[in-house]
Amino acid sequence: MGVRAVRGVRDILPTETPTWQAIEAATRRVFESYGYRELRIPLFERTELFARGIGETTDIVEKEMYTFQDRSGDSITLRPEATASVLRAYIEHGLFTQPKPVRLYTVGPMFRYERPQAGRYRQFHQINVEALGEAASALDAEVLGMLMAFFGALGLGERAVLHVNSIGDAACRPAFRTALAEHLGANLGRLCEECRGRVGRNPLRVLDCKKPECQPVLEKAPSILDALCGACREHFERVRRYLDALGLRYEVTPRLVRGLDYYVRTTFEVLTGDLGAQNALAGGGRYYGLIELLGGPPDPGIGFAIGMERVALLLGAGPDPAAAFVQLIPLGEPGLVRCLRLAQVLRAAGLPVEVAYGARRLRTELERAHRLGVPHVLIVGDDELRAGAATLRDMASGAQDAVPLDAVAPRLEGLYAARADGAAPRAARA
Ligand code: HAM
Repeated sequence: MGVRAVRGVRDILPTETPTWQAIEAATRRVFESYGYRELRIPLFERTELFARGIGETTDIVEKEMYTFQDRSGDSITLRPEATASVLRAYIEHGLFTQPKPVRLYTVGPMFRYERPQAGRYRQFHQINVEALGEAASALDAEVLGMLMAFFGALGLGERAVLHVNSIGDAACRPAFRTALAEHLGANLGRLCEECRGRVGRNPLRVLDCKKPECQPVLEKAPSILDALCGACREHFERVRRYLDALGLRYEVTPRLVRGLDYYVRTTFEVLTGDLGAQNALAGGGRYYGLIELLGGPPDPGIGFAIGMERVALLLGAGPDPAAAFVQLIPLGEPGLVRCLRLAQVLRAAGLPVEVAYGARRLRTELERAHRLGVPHVLIVGDDELRAGAATLRDMASGAQDAVPLDAVAPRLEGLYAARADGAAPRAARA
């Protein structure tokens, strides 16, 4: 075969797009009901934005970015996540002067040079949310409530489990980091090779290592929740109180630290038991100082990103809706002209219509319509035109009847309207 797609990059085929459209429809419906507005950000940025925004010692910046020099010699990176770009836009366009919190969402592809496997790709898609300029703990609970409402809207409420944690702030985390590094340092020989390298640079990352050899050391590690300062402790207690008030189910997971440097206080992930190793459907958290670091005002923020491929995998392909509701089959030139005009009228009324232009035999056309799952076929031949009527065939039952030509459009529109309630494609229902 000829040129194939790049490893870790995939096509989303027409059988899959109804699921993707359902995810996108749920995104807009749920997030907009919470006052979020869509922002569209570029696919690439200056490399320094991600180096500063995500953190130099993160896996993403150290080894996963698609970075290249453009023709003017500038270092450019394909976006590995959306948060840094959203904050850049927030600063660049003065969005921070709007009433706060400024609520933004964005949907689209991200690029990370990771080892591809089921649920992990080099080009993947995220739904990303940021609420900017508000520090209140009630906002954390609202954001988490919205995230879980999204999964609920897709019927995934039972399969998506919310895990929350607090990782402290600049007042309490340094002492915890030191205590943790001491514990890990004393047990260095019992950690996996990757974690041994992390102890000096980013000991918190060791906490969410999944390798079996690290688990005994991690079970004895100090807990961040015991090390929180008064302000962080109170923030976390309030978040949990509001989550309880919202009736949200969640687990407190003290070892949840996340792979990006910018988080402060609340961090969270949504995990599923149904996807094997790539079990994170979404992740996010709060941040302070990041907007300032990127040259903006000292505004706090909180946000998350949902991995769309993983949500699509959980939902499965769903029924493949027929491309057309009715297929017009002309037999001869006058019938074809009539069908072309009729198709125009029906499409203007919103019906998906296909015309068979080919000189194929009627039986071949009917077989084709059957294979495509088209529910109705209209046959317009010379005999029909002379009689001033066309033959309408219900493909499921095989029943046929002669419909006067001027009654064809209203009849089909009626059939389509009657069907739209029960059998609309999933995307339209979601
Ligand atoms: P993240 O945890 O790196 O967070 O990614 C969020 C989600 O994107 C993951 O839970 C996963 O579902 C999906 N994901 C990540 N990498 C891949 C991949 N290679 N293939 C398929 N899916 C993937 C962030 O990106 C943060 N920017 C989230 C955030 C927003 N925090 C605050 N605001």
